[in-house]
Amino acid sequence: MSRRPEAVGAKARPNDPSDMMGRVLDFPNQLREAWELAGRGPDLMKGARPGRVFVVGMGGSAIGGDFVRAFAETCSPVPVEVVRGYELPAAAGSSSFAFFVSYSGNTEETLAVWEEACRRGVPRACITSGGELAERAAHDGTACLRIPPGSPPRAALGWTSIPVFRALGTAGLLPFAAEDVKDAARAGEEVIVKHGPDAAPDDPLRGWAEACAARLPVIYAPAYRYSAAAVRWSGQMNENGKSLAHVALFPEQNHNEIVGWETPSPVLELAEVAMLADDTVHPRVRKRMEIVASRIERARGRVTRFAPAGAGLVARLYSLAVMGDLASLYLAAARGVDPTPVASIDGLKAELGR
Ligand code: F6R
Repeated sequence: MSRRPEAVGAKARPNDPSDMMGRVLDFPNQLREAWELAGRGPDLMKGARPGRVFVVGMGGSAIGGDFVRAFAETCSPVPVEVVRGYELPAAAGSSSFAFFVSYSGNTEETLAVWEEACRRGVPRACITSGGELAERAAHDGTACLRIPPGSPPRAALGWTSIPVFRALGTAGLLPFAAEDVKDAARAGEEVIVKHGPDAAPDDPLRGWAEACAARLPVIYAPAYRYSAAAVRWSGQMNENGKSLAHVALFPEQNHNEIVGWETPSPVLELAEVAMLADDTVHPRVRKRMEIVASRIERARGRVTRFAPAGAGLVARLYSLAVMGDLASLYLAAARGVDPTPVASIDGLKAELGR
């Protein structure tokens, strides 16, 4: 099991009493442990060879599906789609496979899609720490991987995503093996050394995040390969940093949003742009991103560029996740907010339940 976060957080962080930082610093271990746990758990796909894969979940439980989709897009013959909402796409049927991922097991939208998948006979498995989803799976004999409880869902990205990667790897639908998890964990550790709480005070990640305390985080990334990382950054800036955040993807940005930069406005002056890219991105997309960056800089805006660590795409994606997580905690610290509670999400769920 993962070391308790209290054992990891080296320094007392006054605005972080539940030690979200400890959880982020422990994330590389979580990746390795999630691989082991998935290996000891049930065979989630039970020999299924689907023509299409769905990952059903919301928020912190859906983002891991985006990571799997991003990798599958580059190497799998089978499309992976992430379903966020109440409805199961019409294409899902008996020759598909659906992973239901809900950390709590009680997410209304995910349970609604579960019902629909049962009606349509969609082969399925679930990944959860318990709740209604675990009960329903036990009731109808669906394979269910129980992951450790007690964490905010967004801090369980390894637990919720590595088992999906592993199941698809075992089914021969993705080239994914233990080595990929080791590489991802190492890349996460590299990011922690470079950008973690003990990094140099002029660390650009911390600088960007702290600048976001009074500005709007704008996250630009290539759609192919890194859209999932951009969405993770935005979600973490929302939930940990209690801030709005904006994502736009390339090359699509060049066909609409770019025009929004034309006319000076107070909104543009509030944008704090981060660009996520590296030399594995399509050269024309890279060039498009650089042209946009220089235009923003010429208009006296600021762009901070971030490149992932690690060799393969899986490692690079998880390394970007660690960077986004750290940035969101630096933002929370700069704003003096506790990153862990998400009162609006809890309050909304309670209101809907009444
Ligand atoms: C993340 C978070 C939310 C939940 C989402 C779905 O920490 O609190 O984004 O992940 O509301 O809930 P679960 O993950 O329990 O299915």
